[in-house]
Amino acid sequence: MTTMKAIRLRSYGGPEVLVLEEVPRPQVGAGEALIQVRAAGVNPLDWKVRAGHVKGWLPHRLPLILGWDVSGVVEAVAPGVTDFRVGDAVYGLLDFGRDGAYAEYVAARTLNLALKPSSIHYTQAAAVPLGSLTAWQSLFDVGGLKPGQTVLIHGAAGGVGHFAVRFAKWKKAKVVATASANNEAFLRDLGADEVIDYRITKFEKAVNDVDVVLDTIGGETQQRSWQVLRKGGILVATLGISSPEAATSHGVRGEGVMVHPDAAQLTQIAALIDAGELIPAVSTILPLEEAARAHELSQTGHVRGKIVLQVGG
Ligand SMILES: NC(=O)c1ccc[n+]([C@@H]2O[C@H](COP(=O)([O-])OP(=O)(O)OC[C@H]3O[C@@H](n4cnc5c(N)ncnc54)[C@H](OP(=O)(O)O)[C@@H]3O)[C@@H](O)[C@H]2O)c1
Repeated sequence: MTTMKAIRLRSYGGPEVLVLEEVPRPQVGAGEALIQVRAAGVNPLDWKVRAGHVKGWLPHRLPLILGWDVSGVVEAVAPGVTDFRVGDAVYGLLDFGRDGAYAEYVAARTLNLALKPSSIHYTQAAAVPLGSLTAWQSLFDVGGLKPGQTVLIHGAAGGVGHFAVRFAKWKKAKVVATASANNEAFLRDLGADEVIDYRITKFEKAVNDVDVVLDTIGGETQQRSWQVLRKGGILVATLGISSPEAATSHGVRGEGVMVHPDAAQLTQIAALIDAGELIPAVSTILPLEEAARAHELSQTGHVRGKIVLQVGG
């Protein structure tokens, strides 16, 4: 077999540009593994790429296979690859510039991969890499969150936010989370100390002296967040900092974050999952053929946890 099924897009547009096709199987390059995909995580980035919203800073050659969160089984490795073997169960964050995992097979640099947490299914594992690495890198690498500090997490019920809540609790920080009321019980179960319903309460009236804000929402949520930070505190934003001057005038810092693959962090995250510290929340599992439906759901901006595409049986 030299071909495979994949969801590809030939032009930017709505969910209807996602088409199931028979396409050539990828070839592995130096330092790479061929993965038989079991599941692909769906992230907002996927529909933003599909719609052409990010082609300015993330150019792709079309036709393109989306999906940079993967779990699966190593089918083959390039000569000289020793860190993984055929048959290994792996998960990882793929390089954004090339074809992704909405397919039966994907080629990946082994530097992007880690062994899959053994205690969870492939569909849960595929939900982990991008969201959890963004949360980890935002809170710890950029935000420098320490035990005893207070973190305000905007979008706490989402793909990034729900991992951030667990990581912050694992770090022994106090977590204040924003979400709508129907996610309050979900966030309390994750360990959030306070949940603010952003639809009825102005968070800036309910919280202050925050050490770290994780902002996955942007816009006026970000504008109203500067005032809740203590002097010297930091706001870490997944959608960029719209007004660096606002940070300066409040005596705080603002940093945009861009997630990057990190196998060592994924290995540590797998250990936390296997120790029961972290359970990825998958709200919807769809077959690969229903990628367009997955995008429609993601675009609502109100997914709880993650959406995953299951590949094969
Ligand atoms: N820079 C990077 O490296 C990077 C990495 C990952 C993600 N991102 C970006 O970061 C954003 C978040 O990603 P994600 O995967 O977490 O998205 P997501 O899963 O689509 O987030 C959905 C969540 O946002 C919540 N939400 C919506 N409006 C809200 C508001 N005004 N206040 C508080 N919560 C609100 C929803 O909760 P309710 O249903 O309760 O409203 C829902 O649970 C996306 O735009 C994504 O593209 C960037």
